[in-house]
Amino acid sequence: MSHLAAPAGRPLGVGILGAGPVTQAIHLPALARLQDILEVRHIMDVDAAVASSVAARVGAAASTSMDALLANPNVDIVAICSPHQFHADQVIAACRAGKKAVLCEKPFAMNAAEAARISAVSTETGVPIVVGAMHTFDPGWLEAEQNWGNLPDQAHTIRSSIVLPPNARFEDFATEIITRPASGRPDYSDIEVIKGALQGGIMGLAIHDLPLVRRFTPDFADIEVLQALHVRPFGYAVSLRTPTRTIELRAVMNSTWKPEWTFEAIADDAALHIDFTPSYVQAGSAVATFSRNDGSETTTFGPYGHNGYEGEWRELAELARGTRQAPPAQTLIDDLTFALAIAEATVASAAAGHAVATAEAGAPA
Ligand SMILES: NC(=O)c1ccc[n+]([C@@H]2O[C@H](COP(=O)([O-])OP(=O)(O)OC[C@H]3O[C@@H](n4cnc5c(N)ncnc54)[C@H](O)[C@@H]3O)[C@@H](O)[C@H]2O)c1
Repeated sequence: MSHLAAPAGRPLGVGILGAGPVTQAIHLPALARLQDILEVRHIMDVDAAVASSVAARVGAAASTSMDALLANPNVDIVAICSPHQFHADQVIAACRAGKKAVLCEKPFAMNAAEAARISAVSTETGVPIVVGAMHTFDPGWLEAEQNWGNLPDQAHTIRSSIVLPPNARFEDFATEIITRPASGRPDYSDIEVIKGALQGGIMGLAIHDLPLVRRFTPDFADIEVLQALHVRPFGYAVSLRTPTRTIELRAVMNSTWKPEWTFEAIADDAALHIDFTPSYVQAGSAVATFSRNDGSETTTFGPYGHNGYEGEWRELAELARGTRQAPPAQTLIDDLTFALAIAEATVASAAAGHAVATAEAGAPA
C-alpha cells in the first residue's frame, strides 16, 4: 500500500471502471477543469468499443479488464462508475490493490453485508473511500453545515423534493453519449415492478439527500413509513416519521422544463432551505438560506464557483496526497444503512398494498 505524496507539480493519475453516461457526462467534464491536479490515465469498460472511444477523448489507456486497470502503476485514484451490483467488489479490489483513494458512485453497496465487507477492507488497508453522494461535497451544503448551530436538534420537519427532466436531457447537454440502454415500457400492474421502481428511486435518487436527512434525524433508528407512493413515469412520494420528526421524500422525473432540487429542515423558530443544482449540471453550487425570527432575518450562503461533482474530486486529490484526513468509514456505513432501511420499509409498505401508482398527467392508468 502506498500513501506517499505525489511529487509536487505532477497530477495524480485517475482510472475509471465503467465508462457509461456518468463517466462521460459528469466525471470527465469535472476532471477537465482539474487538470493541474488530476489526469485521467486509464478507462475500463466491459464494452471494448465504449472503453476505447471514451479513453480516446482524454488520451488515456483503455481496457476491458479491471485487473489491468488496477495493475496500472500510473493510476493513483480509482473511480467506480459501473452499475450498482458491481460496486462493492470493485471498491474492495481497488483497496486491496493499494491505490491511494477510491471514489465509488452511489450507492456503494446494495446490502448491509456488502457494506460490512467494505468497511472491514477499508479499515484493514487504510485506503480512503469517497461515495459519490455529490451534495455532501457541495460548498453550499458544507457552509450550511458550518452555520446551522443547533437546528439538527430542533428541526421537526425535513423535506427532500426533486423535480427533474429525464437524465438523457442533461447528459446530452453535457456531451455526446456513446451508448444508452433502450428502455421499455414498465408493466405498472405488476407489484414487483412498483417495488423495484421504489427501491430504485430510493437507492438511486433519494440517496443523494438521505445523508442530509440523517444529519437532521437523531432518532432515525425508530423510523416508520406512513405512506409510499410510486409516481409515474419515475418518482416517489414517501412520508415517514420518527417520534420527533416528520420527513417527506418526493421526486418526479418527467418532461419538465423547470428542474428543482430542494432540501429543507424546519424548526419552530428557524429553517434551512437549500437549492441544489440539478444532476449533471456542473456550473455553480447549492445556495443555502437560513431564516429566523418568523422569517424576518435571513442569511444566504452561495452560490460558489463549483458544486459537489468537482468537490468530490478535490477531496479525493487531497486524500490521495495525504493533506486531508479520511472521513470515518463508519459514516458511510451509517448513511448506507439508513438508506437501505428506508428503501426496505418503503418497499414493504408498497407490498402491503399501500402503494397507489399515481399516473403522470395524460398517461394511461
Ligand atoms: N452522481 C450522480 O449524479 C449520478 C447520476 C446517475 C448515475 N449515477 C451512478 O453512476 C453509476 C453508473 O451510472 P451510468 O448511468 O453511467 O450507468 P450505465 O449502466 O448506463 O453505464 C455503466 C457502464 O458500465 C459498464 N459496465 C457494465 N458492467 C461493468 C463492470 N462489471 N465493470 C466495469 N464496467 C461495467 C457498462 O458497459 C456501461 O458502459 C451508477 O451506479 C449510478 O447510480 C450517479
